[in-house]
Amino acid sequence: MGSLSCCLLLATALLAPRVAATRKCDLQGLWRNELGSNMTLSALDASGTFSGSYHTAVADTNKQILVSPLQGAQQHPSDKGQPTFGFTVQWQFADSMTAFVGQCFVDRRGKETLETTWLLREEVPSRRDVWKATRVGTSIFTRIK
Ligand code: BTN
Repeated sequence: MGSLSCCLLLATALLAPRVAATRKCDLQGLWRNELGSNMTLSALDASGTFSGSYHTAVADTNKQILVSPLQGAQQHPSDKGQPTFGFTVQWQFADSMTAFVGQCFVDRRGKETLETTWLLREEVPSRRDVWKATRVGTSIFTRIK
C-alpha cells in the first residue's frame, strides 16, 4: 500500500466518528410507521414549531378515514443533532386526539428514524368512563422522502 492511500485510510478512520456525531436529523419530509400510516412534516419555523398532515392506516371507527392536520414543536431547533419533539393530531373523522412525543435518531449511514410514544384520547360520555378513554403505544417512523 502506498503512503498516500495509507494516509487517506487513516484520515477516514479518524474522521468517520466525528462525521457521524455531527450528522443532523431533519424532521421535515414524508414518514411512514409500522402500521402503514403516513405523515408529512413541514420545515421548522424559527421557534421550532412545525405543522403537517397525518394519514392513519387504522382507526377505531367505521367512518371514512380522512387526512388530518398536526401541529408540533422540536426542542432546540437550531443546534440539535438528534432532537426531541412532540405533535398532536386533530382527527377529522373522530372525536379523539392523539399526542406523540419522541426523538429523531440518525445512524452512521445517515438513516433517520422517529422513535415515538403516543397517547390516544377518545371522547367519553361521562367522567365515569374516563378510565377507558386513553390508549398508549409506541411507533417508529422511517423516512419515505
Ligand atoms: C381514532 O381511531 O380515534 C382516530 C385514529 C387514531 C389512529 C391511531 S393514533 C396512534 C396509532 N398510530 C397510527 O398511525 N394510527 C393509530
